[in-house]
Amino acid sequence: MGEAPVFLRGVEIRPGYLDRAAQEEMVEDIRDVARAAPLFSPETRFGKKMSVQMTSAGTYGWYSDRRGYRYERRHPSGVDWPPIPASVLAVWHAVTGVERAPDCCLVNFYREGARMGLHQDRDEADFGWPVLSISLGDSALFRIGSVERGGKTESVWLNSGDVCVIGGEARLVHHGIDRIRAGSSTLLADGGRINLTLRVVD
Ligand code: SIN
Ligand code: MN
Repeated sequence: MGEAPVFLRGVEIRPGYLDRAAQEEMVEDIRDVARAAPLFSPETRFGKKMSVQMTSAGTYGWYSDRRGYRYERRHPSGVDWPPIPASVLAVWHAVTGVERAPDCCLVNFYREGARMGLHQDRDEADFGWPVLSISLGDSALFRIGSVERGGKTESVWLNSGDVCVIGGEARLVHHGIDRIRAGSSTLLADGGRINLTLRVVD
C-alpha cells in the first residue's frame, strides 16, 4: 500500500501506507481508547508539563513525572489501559513482520504549537524489537539524529497515513517533532495530529 519505502538514517518511512478509509477507521478506534483512558499532559522528569497530550492502549502505558520515564500498568485515574485496537495491531504485524504483539500503543496528540524534543525510545527491555509509528491528521516535521547524542540531524514531513519503523540499527536513534503544520489535514474535525507508537515493553 502507498508509495515505495524511504529510508532516512535507517528509519523506514512508508508514505501513505494507510488510505483515507483506514485512517478514519483508526481515528474512531483511538477515540474509543481516549474515552476509556482520557488524554493527559505528563510532566517531564524536570517537572515541566509536556505540550503533547498522551494516553495509551495495551498491557502497559507510557508515563512520565518527576520520578522519570517509565511504563505503568494503569492510567493515572486507576483504570486499566484499554486493549490495542485490532486495526492498529494489523498494521504492526503487516509492516514489521513480527509475530509477537506489542505491549503498548502510546497515543500522542499534538495541537498547533505542540512539539516533542529529541529523545530516544529506551524504556523498553529489549531493543531487538522494532518501534512502529503511525501518523494521523496534520503533518509534522520529524527530526532524526544519530544513536549517539549530538551531531547532524535530518528532517522529513510525516503526513497522515504515513507509517515508520524505527528498528534494527536505527532502533535507538534520537528523534523528535519540531512542529505541526496546522490545517494541513482534514482527517480530524478539530485539527491536530495523532501519533501512535507501538512497542514491545518486556
Ligand atoms: C514519539 O517519539 O513518541 C512520537 C513521534 C511522533 O510523534 O511522530
Ligand atoms: Mn519516541
